[in-house]
Amino acid sequence: MKITVVGAGAVGASCAEYIAIKNFASEVVLVDIKEGYAEGKAMDLMQTASLNGFDTKIIGTTGDYSKTAGSDIAVITSGIPRKPGMTREELIGINAGIVKTVSSSLIQHSPNVILIVVSNPMDTMTYLVHKTTNLPKSRIIGMGGALDSARFKYRLAEAMEAPISDIDGMVIGGHSDKGMVPLTSHATRNSIRVSEFLSTERLDQVAADTKVGGATLTGLLGTSAWYAPGAAVSALVQAIACDQKKLFPCSTYLEGEYGLNDICIGVPVLLGKNGIEQIVNVPLSDAEKAKMKESAEGVAKTNALLEL
Ligand code: 2OP
Repeated sequence: MKITVVGAGAVGASCAEYIAIKNFASEVVLVDIKEGYAEGKAMDLMQTASLNGFDTKIIGTTGDYSKTAGSDIAVITSGIPRKPGMTREELIGINAGIVKTVSSSLIQHSPNVILIVVSNPMDTMTYLVHKTTNLPKSRIIGMGGALDSARFKYRLAEAMEAPISDIDGMVIGGHSDKGMVPLTSHATRNSIRVSEFLSTERLDQVAADTKVGGATLTGLLGTSAWYAPGAAVSALVQAIACDQKKLFPCSTYLEGEYGLNDICIGVPVLLGKNGIEQIVNVPLSDAEKAKMKESAEGVAKTNALLEL
């Protein structure tokens, strides 16, 4: 199983590290445009192999996509991250050109690749890849909901002073500060609805904190987060690589599902060896349906900025 990660910055390198430590891939190729940077990160990571107990071979390359040939899965993290006070949507001008070029280079060397898009604004970047490549929609996956759901579970556990391992919860919709839809009505603490433990007001605060989870960290760190984004990507990669049929919220191209068309936005999907193997319909309350519709309107507005 060969995995390519484009962008050897904090998110890409964290993703590569988690993939290696999980030891399901034979090879990880890190790509960056900065001379020697991916090679250095790869070598540093390889020098953890004996300590972290993995046999995955990690190599780095400065822009030589021939080294990525035959990749089964490729992750696109390249582009500029947010600065404090910025929205993800403000990154579109620079990141759209990068994502278009990178996806084309990846497919040229790995025609059967499954692409995972991380670069922001992620839903629009996923849509861009769908519109500018000939990959089937099952092989174009946007990572946002898996990260947002992890932040949702973190906030739920914090509110209930519960172990995160007891918490289940999902965030769908756009991967944006205003567009996320945390499904508080479905969240559980060891199969018991969280509304048995938390007031409506407290649950609303959990949802609000979840939606700005990325911005909160950007304010603290001065740049976008990387550990949780890297871990979320590695979970999607593992689900595909190991054909787990695991259910995640991912950004995918919709053709009528959830009443939405011609848009990429976060919905529950089953991930396996073919990429997105099924879009799963989750029953939504009227309020959740309305939030999903509003979220899609926001994503569509950003999509309109693309020069397709
Ligand atoms: C985040 O929410 C980078 O969009 C990513 O942290």
